[in-house]
Amino acid sequence: MDFEAARAWLFQHLDAEIEDKRVLAAMSRVPRERFVPLEQQSMAYDDRPLPIGLDQTISQPLIVALMTEALELTGDEKVLEVGTGSGYQAAILGELARHVVTTERLPVLAESAQKTLRNLGYNNIEVKIAEETLGWTEGAPYDAIVVTAGAPRVPSELLLQLKIDGRMVIPVGSRYLQELYKITRGQKRNVVKNLGGCRFVSLIGRDAWEE
Ligand SMILES: C[S@@+](CC[C@H](N)C(=O)[O-])C[C@H]1O[C@@H](n2cnc3c(N)ncnc32)[C@H](O)[C@@H]1O
Repeated sequence: MDFEAARAWLFQHLDAEIEDKRVLAAMSRVPRERFVPLEQQSMAYDDRPLPIGLDQTISQPLIVALMTEALELTGDEKVLEVGTGSGYQAAILGELARHVVTTERLPVLAESAQKTLRNLGYNNIEVKIAEETLGWTEGAPYDAIVVTAGAPRVPSELLLQLKIDGRMVIPVGSRYLQELYKITRGQKRNVVKNLGGCRFVSLIGRDAWEE
């Protein structure tokens, strides 16, 4: 399998959709094939989500790029990801921010992601097993938060972990279809922008969906 050629094709396709070329440059440094099961590797550079086991998925590259772009990272941020999955999104955040904390509720996925990230040399990413409270309060406040599972509403537990002027990107809607929201936390009011429709697996937890 010629991963280089497949990757080049994907980035040509994403280039038309994504304005922030730093995001694309970061994504082009991360080998997506290392984050998917062996049997999915030939599809690693298709622009679509892929199964990673335990009924979970690695997100579609275009959605990863859109979510990352909306976080407006400049290199000095502390970022929280909720939903480590394969670790792919965390690696991209690790390329663009100072420090990343990523939480995953399924220990098998967390361990596998941690191993992949360690093997690729990322030392600015901490993988945590999710606790009852969404996110990771010990590391708060964060400059940016990305939630890579669909929530029924914007969880206040997560908003509280975001700095003033910080950005949170989160899919909100039903179990099967969501809208991607970008929320900028204000002193008094938050600004919410709808980035369009998407489809994510469910965010499970006290301030989200039941299992
Ligand atoms: C679409 S996958 C994430 C894809 C991932 N960002 C990647 O790059 O591969 C969603 C993940 O969120 C996890 N998840 C669901 N609820 C969670 C919670 N409350 N805390 C942390 N992770 C959660 C799921 O187990 C699943 O692995």
